[in-house]
Amino acid sequence: MSTHAQLNSALEPIPQFDLSAQYAAIGAEIRAAIERVLSSQQFILGREGAALEEEIASLCGVAYGVGVASGTDALILALRACGVRAGDEVLLPTSTFVATGSAVSALGAKPVFADIRPETYTLDPSELERRVTLRTRAVIVVHLYGLAADMDPIVAFAKSRKLPLIEDCAQAIGAGYKGRRVGSIGDTGCFSFYPTKNLGAYGDGGMIVTNSAEVAARLRTLRNHGQTTKYISSEPGWNSRLDEIQAAILRVKLRHLADWQSARRSNAAEYTRLLERVPGIMPPYEGEGFEHVYHQYTIRTEQRDALQHHLAARKIDSTVYYPHPLHLQPLYASLGDKRGDFPHAERAAQEVLSLPMYPELRKGQIARVVDAVANFLKC
Ligand SMILES: Cc1ncc(COP(=O)(O)O)c(C=O)c1O
Repeated sequence: MSTHAQLNSALEPIPQFDLSAQYAAIGAEIRAAIERVLSSQQFILGREGAALEEEIASLCGVAYGVGVASGTDALILALRACGVRAGDEVLLPTSTFVATGSAVSALGAKPVFADIRPETYTLDPSELERRVTLRTRAVIVVHLYGLAADMDPIVAFAKSRKLPLIEDCAQAIGAGYKGRRVGSIGDTGCFSFYPTKNLGAYGDGGMIVTNSAEVAARLRTLRNHGQTTKYISSEPGWNSRLDEIQAAILRVKLRHLADWQSARRSNAAEYTRLLERVPGIMPPYEGEGFEHVYHQYTIRTEQRDALQHHLAARKIDSTVYYPHPLHLQPLYASLGDKRGDFPHAERAAQEVLSLPMYPELRKGQIARVVDAVANFLKC
């Protein structure tokens, strides 16, 4: 074995995220919460779910929360609640996880993609006016990586066109925009509790928040077979309920969320401070009035793939979120969008790289990641 190989084999791997460190810290609280549900023998639509709905609504500063089975269902139900049907068009950014688009497709509606701002990776508000048509029925904005999109011009556009605005907050629970929390700015906010999200369940889960009593009531009906009262259904719904065990787990985790977010922010500040000496790397952007919650710490470089290999050789994980914008997915080939139609999103897909990020990440590990990046760029 060469000295180089020996040195590498002694290195501790740095994962993209590490849920076991979190479980080691809160395992006893989690087990007590699960035990509470088991003792109650109430597993669906009980006290835990109702309490979590109130707690998440209050975190966001809105009136109502409606727990559902996943972030994808949250989007589908929010679209349905605002009247989107087969044949309608829905505007959304092309740089997002596929679920944002497939929620639209699940209703037989057509996603109409928009480009992003290159420095934030979120929807470019000026795109909306270019892409809107007479068939547009709603807008979905995505707060990607934990950073809010620039909401003021997006809200102004949606209001001027009388279009419902849905916030996809799957990656951004708690993120701030001009003193407000994401989810409270549009008509509805959709959250995912997928295990690796900043607030993650031990399985799937999601929630929709809204200030409208009418929308909340409709969502409660839709998530439970369209039943307005027991065994009376007035429209087709399905089963999309958040179960009590997941809700109890999420309530424990919610108590720690503010601390975890500050740890993420402090880790991000450390990365950015150390990366200042590394030219050729663009750190994440956090403008005035934005509070990023760093679901991901995403850098940008033209030599992305080579850098990712270099890090992997040093046992440092990194991930590309996302290598293919939605308009270039095979799923959407029939829509007719071509390479070159959304230049900022396409370029970002070639250049972005998310570095390890989780609350328990240590400063020494961050230094090792940045040293490896600097070493790759020979600076
Ligand atoms: C931006 C975005 N939207 C929607 C979803 C879908 O959430 P879920 O996996 O809970 O269905 C995710 C996460 O997976 C996401 O990152």
